[in-house]
Amino acid sequence: MPTIRYPTRPFADQKPGTSGLRKKVRVFEQPGYAQNFLQSIFDVVARPEGATLVIGGDGRYYNRTVIQLAIRIAAANGYARALVGRGGLLSTPAVSHLIRKYGASGGVILSASHNPAGRDGDFGIKYNIANGGPAPEAITDAIHARTLVIDRWLAEDAPDIDLEQVGQYRVGTMDVEIIDPVQDYAELMEELFDFSVIRGAVAEGLTMAFDAMHAVTGPYAVEILEKRLGFAAGTVRNAVPLEDFGGGHPDPNLVHAHELYALMMSDAAPDFGAASDGDGDRNLIIGRGCYITPSDSLAMLAANAHLAPGYAGGLRGIARSMPTSAAADRVAADLGIACFETPTGWKYFGNLLDAGMATICGEESAGTGSDHIREKDGLWAVLLWLNILAVRKMSVDALARAHWARFGRNYYARHDYEELPVADADKLMDAVKAELPSMPGTKFGDIEVTLADSFTYDDPVDGTSSVNQGVRICFADGSRAVFRLSGTGTEGATLRVYLERYEPPQGIIDATPSEMLAGLASVVELIADVQTHTGRAGPDIVT
Ligand code: G1P
Ligand code: ZN
Repeated sequence: MPTIRYPTRPFADQKPGTSGLRKKVRVFEQPGYAQNFLQSIFDVVARPEGATLVIGGDGRYYNRTVIQLAIRIAAANGYARALVGRGGLLSTPAVSHLIRKYGASGGVILSASHNPAGRDGDFGIKYNIANGGPAPEAITDAIHARTLVIDRWLAEDAPDIDLEQVGQYRVGTMDVEIIDPVQDYAELMEELFDFSVIRGAVAEGLTMAFDAMHAVTGPYAVEILEKRLGFAAGTVRNAVPLEDFGGGHPDPNLVHAHELYALMMSDAAPDFGAASDGDGDRNLIIGRGCYITPSDSLAMLAANAHLAPGYAGGLRGIARSMPTSAAADRVAADLGIACFETPTGWKYFGNLLDAGMATICGEESAGTGSDHIREKDGLWAVLLWLNILAVRKMSVDALARAHWARFGRNYYARHDYEELPVADADKLMDAVKAELPSMPGTKFGDIEVTLADSFTYDDPVDGTSSVNQGVRICFADGSRAVFRLSGTGTEGATLRVYLERYEPPQGIIDATPSEMLAGLASVVELIADVQTHTGRAGPDIVT
């Protein structure tokens, strides 16, 4: 089978965002579009002699097509071996683990995370490096630069292979192994968590509902929760991955996982409710009658992680993205360990994890994970919660109340304004940035601004500096407002406004976030004129 050199021309719009290249399926369907991007990756990334590449995706429409392409292009570019998930499926955390376990030089993940799928939906390509984590900016910038000058892509002239069964193939000089997507990941979870204590709690009556949202986590959750931990059949809902995710939007938040939320707030609620997103890296945690924000979840997991065997030795540090609430900071202070504040996006945690400076990381956007891999991990968070609940023999609600009574409570909400005209969103951000220097010392009602800046992160490991990572305005009472524009949308601009207010342990720990944040929301309106700039009466989504 010869290698064919296909002439091509650059596309001007292949700049990766927060999490790889994400576009509408119809953009990816342009002749040469996916090929150019894959070839640009392989032109740029490190590939030692005998290199292995992991390939898989979240099962969305176009996944299988691009997997076949990726196999042929990887073979033509000199990879010795490709590990491909059966059915083209691999969750993002599973790819990260496989890269590390089998010493692969990298992995290609086909996913647009929680964005809707189907022919009219979104598609995406991400590249992860040899440590298992997302390619850092220097690499994604180099890939982008390459896409702008590319003039050919290479592919083996080979037929499609059968992705639906475990098996071995040869494409050109590359070995292709179609592997069970779940096996290695499930084994890793058994090493980290005490499955027997969880099984014991299930036998004593612990119940749960897991919504896989017709995306990639279905097979993982069925194997781990139902088969290995003994939860009843049917515990995993919407368990079969579908190319259009059943028409849904697999973002595990209260808006898109509303059925699960309604169940958990009803009399029929099981003890524990959870969901994951399109590619399996996010998580939603809801107790019976008690929703846990991702920021609180990070803090509560960090405070109790030592109860799971994988973390029995304690944590070395905690890292959270800047817009994530400071709840975890209080746990870190109590444990006497560092808490790092990084820009949005999992890639910024990689260095801290590699250097052994942080053990647990999290983002307000429902991403939590640890040094077991280099991605956030939805099922991992669910299993750590289950392990903690099984050991402490208490409900989610009781655990949360005990946590707030000890550390205080960070009331938190994120307001999203979606599909704004880019120019309007930029204008709002520019206007807020222009006010920053004069803000400290200004009083809004009775709260005074103590700090107002555009967040810069200086990586303590490699010394690189990332500027313009969101505007933060902090107030004397510990409240904070953050403004940033999303880097993952595919249409227009999305403005995210993050609101946070801290109540100490002896303060109010029993109110709703909207009650507690109403005052701060009015101050934000005064500062940023969101309504005027966006022409919207309120946010599209509040999480
Ligand atoms: C969003 C989240 C961010 C997360 C990213 C990838 O990015 O806010 O925390 O890392 O998706 O899952 P954004 O759209 O805000 O740039
Ligand atoms: Zn995701």
